[in-house]
Amino acid sequence: MHSFGYRANALLTFAVTILALMCTIGSLSDNLNTPSPSAQIEILNINWFQKQPHGNDEVSLTLNITADLQSLFTWNTKQLFIFVAAEYETPKNALNQVSLWDAIIPAKEFAKFSIHTSNKYRFIDQGHSLRGKEFNLTLHWHVMPKTGKMFANKIVMSGYRLPEDYR
Ligand SMILES: *[C@@H]1O[C@H](CO)[C@@H](O)[C@H](O)[C@H]1NC(C)=O
Ligand SMILES: *[C@@H]1O[C@H](CO)[C@@H](O)[C@H](O)[C@H]1NC(C)=O
Repeated sequence: MHSFGYRANALLTFAVTILALMCTIGSLSDNLNTPSPSAQIEILNINWFQKQPHGNDEVSLTLNITADLQSLFTWNTKQLFIFVAAEYETPKNALNQVSLWDAIIPAKEFAKFSIHTSNKYRFIDQGHSLRGKEFNLTLHWHVMPKTGKMFANKIVMSGYRLPEDYR
């Protein structure tokens, strides 16, 4: 007859094996899922646009951010971290990336939304090259899984332009 300790140990080993197997299947099935997220961002207003006393341009925007990220959720998804960035080129930097807004999406039911907001973080240039500047708005996401590797991707929306004059 096996002792209680032996049986408890065998049961534990079995449980750990099943758990490991489920994690592997979970990560694999995540890779098979081809998500189809969508996003639109509209600039509803340029609230103000000015050159700061020490010379850097700063702009305040009101955005309408609409997204459907529900397909990024699988049973293995813990939450999403998302952020919207303005991305543009200047003579100084090939890529300037300014984070404007971010959020944590804790569950699938919150992954389809439309939010009307001004930029949560300041949109400041490292210089004064924002007048008439063409830029992209990019929605980035990081998928935090329950098990396995985190992954990230983005949707790039282009064709935005700042006014020619401060206001
Ligand atoms: C925001 O954009 C969505 C999708 O384009 C639209 O349905 C909604 O009416 C817009 N909201 C505002 C306040 O403009
Ligand atoms: C903006 O988006 C366009 C089209 O996707 C891309 O060609 C361009 O490189 C982007 N600009 C920056 C600064 O990322």
